[in-house]
Amino acid sequence: MNDRRRFLHVLGATTAAVALPACGGTDTTTSGTGTSGAGGAGGSGSTATTGGMGGAGGAGGSGATTADTATASASASSSTGGGCDMNPPGTAVGVPADFTAAGLHILAGTKVLVGRDDKGLYALTSICPHEFCDMDAKQGGQPVGTVTGQGIICNCHGSKFDNYGAVLKGPANKPLKAYSMALGCDGKVYVDKTKVVSIDQRLDA
Ligand code: FES
Repeated sequence: MNDRRRFLHVLGATTAAVALPACGGTDTTTSGTGTSGAGGAGGSGSTATTGGMGGAGGAGGSGATTADTATASASASSSTGGGCDMNPPGTAVGVPADFTAAGLHILAGTKVLVGRDDKGLYALTSICPHEFCDMDAKQGGQPVGTVTGQGIICNCHGSKFDNYGAVLKGPANKPLKAYSMALGCDGKVYVDKTKVVSIDQRLDA
């Protein structure tokens, strides 16, 4: 009996010792649940369903979705008209059929060069950045700008630019600026000389 009572005493002490970490585990679990709920507030819909705070997160996610939907709707509205602009800013410089050939096109009186490549249309200023000769104009009956297959030459002082306005030869030391373009619903191509854009922009027309 003495051995049995000693055994039960030792067994009881061991059970109590094992129970202590279990309490710690409960605390950890509770803490983990709280953290999980806060994470739900960050926008995970599935997490949001597992706790009260997560529910708030689910509501946030719903709001973001609504905003995205509104943005998409606004975008769709702005493109209404089959890709044309009802009231494009700038000046009409022609129709797409005027610019079917690849390379640069001189447009007298517009101070704009229109270019085409396999990605679409783009517009450059015709004003040479050296001393501001207009490559669309004539001087003494001779054209100031000469279009070549590789770009354009400013005959005032011999600067050369490639088809995208980059300087190939000075004295000009700055590229030709690129302008924003739009296709009007009247079928005309418009150039906005108040809006300088990246040379990478194209009008799909
Ligand atoms: S103005 Fe064009 S090269 Fe001088």
